[in-house]
Amino acid sequence: MAKGKPKSYPHRATVPPIYQSAVFDFARVEDLAAQIESGPAFPPSVDDLTYIYARGGNPTQRKLELDLAALELTDDGLVFASGMAAITAVALTFGESGCEFAVGYPVYGDTYAVFADLLPRFGVSASFVDTSDIGEVRRAMKRSPRMLFCETPANPSLAVTDLKAVARLCKKHDCLLVVDNTFATPVNQNPVALGADLVIHSLTKFIGGHSDLVGGAVAGGKDLITRIRLTQFITGGILDPFAAWLVMRSLKTLELRVQRQNENALALAKLLEKHPKVARVYYPGLTSSPHRRIAKKQMRGFGGIVSFELKGGLRKAKRFVNRLKGARIAVSLGSTETLIQIPALITHRIVPKGVQESLGIPRDLVRVAVGIELTDELLANFKRALKEL
Ligand SMILES: Cc1ncc(COP(=O)(O)O)c(C=O)c1O
Repeated sequence: MAKGKPKSYPHRATVPPIYQSAVFDFARVEDLAAQIESGPAFPPSVDDLTYIYARGGNPTQRKLELDLAALELTDDGLVFASGMAAITAVALTFGESGCEFAVGYPVYGDTYAVFADLLPRFGVSASFVDTSDIGEVRRAMKRSPRMLFCETPANPSLAVTDLKAVARLCKKHDCLLVVDNTFATPVNQNPVALGADLVIHSLTKFIGGHSDLVGGAVAGGKDLITRIRLTQFITGGILDPFAAWLVMRSLKTLELRVQRQNENALALAKLLEKHPKVARVYYPGLTSSPHRRIAKKQMRGFGGIVSFELKGGLRKAKRFVNRLKGARIAVSLGSTETLIQIPALITHRIVPKGVQESLGIPRDLVRVAVGIELTDELLANFKRALKEL
């Protein structure tokens, strides 16, 4: 929240303007040449006069970058066209032929594909590690990975990684720790404050929050962000100014939305856990969860995603998803409306069937991303669908 007197914008506008400009002009060609000479415009402030060309920066994106950096308690930030553009830019910045990355599992399907399929084509290999097991992380460090990338809670198993413990190991072994904080959101968790070097978001999810934009972000120390900014400038995965403005608008309600989603998810997880037709529930907020102790230590809320398995396997899971009222059958998560899907068939379909199970993606797992609807309505819909099974 802003401290002190709220800032107004040009013309005393209450809301920041959208600079829908790809190009910024100069009074004299010498001034433009001098600006080019002094390096790409990586502007430190929104009011800076060094903007040249929007692939290298635009004041609207820049305001969002600084807002996100503040939310993640970091010095600087960078916004992208999607979460995947952010992840790829980080991997391209710190990878080089012959090096190895350690990657926590499970991770989002396309993230898996970047590390398992795309990067090895350029000589960057990946070893997959269960980062919720500190012993496995310790063993992984013996291979001297340049970077450890993980999600916590992880998609779709909601496994939790002890970030302080992993950060200590990474520091000792000179390994960059990059955490995808999409599931937790900065409302519930700040990985950099727990020792990570960089934090990543798919802005498409809770931060955007309304299923109406695609975006990504990275936040961290200025030096690292400046290196990633150069990759972004060359490769071009920038966020459009209008999408950046929409994200800024979404930030105003982020805390309210996430608090309701935390409450809804916990209530749903408790309901499912008690239900005789449910085989297993995955939610770090449940007292029965093996991840609760670490989650309580590092998170302020347990997040808006619940995964579960029904008795009766994949056939029952499909039938349940099709019958459930009040939820959309869709990919993505973090929206105002509840979204439901079966990861092994959809968001994690790209992970080979033979390894899905061993990477924490059971075939019949159902993933629910709760919305901000009234808790009683959400629970009533689930109770009805379970009864009808
Ligand atoms: C945890 C996580 N990270 C990254 C991404 C990729 O984000 P985007 O779809 O914005 O590229 C996703 C997408 O579902 C995700 O779930």
